[in-house]
Amino acid sequence: MTRLLINIDHVATLRNARRETFPDPLSAARACLDGGADGIVFHLREDRRHIKDADVERIRAELDTKLDFELSLAEEIVAICCRNAPELATLVPERREEVTTEGGLDVLGNSKRLSSVIPRLYDHGVAEVALFVDPDPEQIEAAARSGANAIELHTGDYANAADAAARAAVLSRLATAARQAHDLGLRVHAGHGLDIHNYPAFSKAVPHLAEVSIGFAIVSRALFIGFKAAVEEMRSIIEAHPHVA
Ligand code: PXP
Repeated sequence: MTRLLINIDHVATLRNARRETFPDPLSAARACLDGGADGIVFHLREDRRHIKDADVERIRAELDTKLDFELSLAEEIVAICCRNAPELATLVPERREEVTTEGGLDVLGNSKRLSSVIPRLYDHGVAEVALFVDPDPEQIEAAARSGANAIELHTGDYANAADAAARAAVLSRLATAARQAHDLGLRVHAGHGLDIHNYPAFSKAVPHLAEVSIGFAIVSRALFIGFKAAVEEMRSIIEAHPHVA
């Protein structure tokens, strides 16, 4: 069964909008775990627009679950990730002016930096390193050479596809990429824009899905039905739609 990890960044976005101490991302994470989440994801951005350093420390100290620390290759953030030694570190590109992560990491262009960061993460006790990539064969080959043990496929183009033809085309690229990654010995994660509506067609097309990372849709749904119910709802969709073999 594909594991469901929940990204709680946007609980912090709401808190920070009023420079308040609530809503608390840690409390939201606990409610997600109550709802059956298999782990918690956060992205400590260089501009600290949502999750802050103190959130990372509290989440690490208080939760006994798989943590996925999303990070850029910036030295300051890599050092914080090493100190907190999450179970999973997912390396992502980051641009200050973007509203959210807009595409996959350029693994080829960053190969030198990756060759120093990835071994450091393992040395500090990070069990698994994933690279967030577009479904591009060259990037996936480079990911396999990098020493990472997983990729996270960027599903934003699937979630935002303008019509059925565009959706089918991107699903086909994602399926090919998942097969290639699996054949190269990489675990396959996926995320960005996934929700209860688009997950069934996604899992019907894309094999080897070990894990999905979902944030915005869950936080948005939780405003109306609460985190526990929002996660239970997503879980039941995943269980009803196992990924294709
Ligand atoms: N995976 C990665 C690498 C991301 O950057 C994001 C967005 O923060 C997600 C998954 C989750 O995307 P969404 O919030 O659209 O579910």
